[in-house]
Amino acid sequence: MNRLILVALLIVQGAIAQNTLLIPSTLSGTDINLTLQNGTHQFFSGVNTTTMGANGNILGPTLILNQGDFVNFTVNNQIADITTIHWHGMHVSAENDGGPHTTIDPNTTWTPSFTILDKAATYWYHPHLHEKTNEHVSKGIAGLIIVRDAEEAALNLPRTYGVDDFPLVIQTKDFDANNQIVVPSNSDDVVMVNATIDAALTVPEQVVRFRVLNGSSMRVFNLGLSGNQTFYQIASDGGLLSDNLPLTRLQLGPGERAEILINFSGMNGQTVFLKSYASEFPNGIYGATNPGMGAGMTLNGYNPNPLNGADFDIMQFNVGAPTATPVTTIASPLATVTPIPEANSNMSRTITMSPVTTGSNQLNGNFYLNNVLFDINVINETVPLDNTEIWTITNNSAIAHPFHIHDVQFYILDRNGNPPPASEQGRKDVILVKSQETVRFIAKFEDFSSTVPYMYHCHMLIHEDGGMMGQFVVQNTLSVEDNELSDKLKVYPNPANNTIHIAVEGGLNIDTVEIIDQLGRVVLGKKTNFNNDSIQIEGLSKGVFFLKIYTDNRSLTKKIIIK
Ligand code: C2O
Ligand code: CU
Ligand code: CU
Repeated sequence: MNRLILVALLIVQGAIAQNTLLIPSTLSGTDINLTLQNGTHQFFSGVNTTTMGANGNILGPTLILNQGDFVNFTVNNQIADITTIHWHGMHVSAENDGGPHTTIDPNTTWTPSFTILDKAATYWYHPHLHEKTNEHVSKGIAGLIIVRDAEEAALNLPRTYGVDDFPLVIQTKDFDANNQIVVPSNSDDVVMVNATIDAALTVPEQVVRFRVLNGSSMRVFNLGLSGNQTFYQIASDGGLLSDNLPLTRLQLGPGERAEILINFSGMNGQTVFLKSYASEFPNGIYGATNPGMGAGMTLNGYNPNPLNGADFDIMQFNVGAPTATPVTTIASPLATVTPIPEANSNMSRTITMSPVTTGSNQLNGNFYLNNVLFDINVINETVPLDNTEIWTITNNSAIAHPFHIHDVQFYILDRNGNPPPASEQGRKDVILVKSQETVRFIAKFEDFSSTVPYMYHCHMLIHEDGGMMGQFVVQNTLSVEDNELSDKLKVYPNPANNTIHIAVEGGLNIDTVEIIDQLGRVVLGKKTNFNNDSIQIEGLSKGVFFLKIYTDNRSLTKKIIIK
């Protein structure tokens, strides 16, 4: 509340202080070390707020990773609480995914390692401990992941980090009278970008790229520029679009990302504001005047808030001199986008969102997925490996929910039977499902199977922590049938660096051995005829592979790591 008065006073005086946008540092290469820590950050000058961060007091470094690289991560937990780190949007095995089962105790480290299989896009990492996700994210642990690939590298796009390619982590938070972050809260009246309130960034007079993440716990933004200047969306959550998309508005729910280009050419000396035009939101969206469908339906603490149902500034761009080699055109076309044809699907599932407490107070309660709350001991769905599935999500509650699924990027088939807007016709991992809406998406669950579950959930963190989450395992039916074979075949050492030994017990003969990469290509094959053999692997790139052993008309696949 004191914040409201302060903002009002500043508006009356016509002078909102501007703070230079913080640009997170970067980490790149194949060894990434993150230390989660407690700290303090001055959101308000001269006032320390207790925070959490990775390798610093607030947020985390931007990770810049190359498709195809095998990356070793070390995540050291120094926050004095159990937590996890999840690589949101990335296609990794469930063991490496950092969901609620993969906990990191205080003062211990977690060391996932995996090949970057994703397309060039902007992903992010954040804690995912059940019932603590909101606290750990709101207090500050969140970072961007930029994946680069050859297709993106061939385009004439800005890509110099901090020069013509900027991360924008947009969040709203609630601060108490002592300027401490309140979690959970529906009174998030302070807007920040990269943990900077009233942020200003000097941009060069040319085409500039922004990687925008809605990292808020609850709030949806309706992004636009002052004067309704056109900007160009080039990527959705998980990849480049097929062509640049001129827009004046872009809706971004919690967890969603978009990459956009703004053409500042010829604008030296001018100021442009990035805004949320939340006055245009219909009822039923967190961020509108009425977050529920009915005018009488509200959330405890939601109003009054100058951000609800109003147009507000998120940050400002001050246009300065161009760089030496500016990008001055909006690249077109962009990438090859190959949606999965609906006919490829071999299974469909439905997920229904509904309030636990029905009626006009429903927004203050929890929400079900398929009529149950999350139970960490219950697997809600079992997906056969390599299935292509259509998921139909229906929202029977009074508020829009951003639905997110781990493991896959999906393609939206339709929203209430209609094709999705162009901004959603690319790879996605979060979709905002409006009240009474039904959306369908299609995804292929390939490469990774495990008994460790992946999550799907609402990305409004109060809802997620309140149990609006389910879990699925991807099951390799082959390896299930071949439990007996699995017991008889020993593969060692694993990880290996030049030789892998295969030993068989019990009178089986190995016919053929293949090493298959994560895209399913056989990179090494060997005919053999012994019940003990070894296979030379030096010369293969480092990473995760599958060793497929054929024996007596049966086969067995084992995951191996080449280091
Ligand atoms: Cu960004 Cu399961 O979360
Ligand atoms: Cu995720
Ligand atoms: Cu929700």
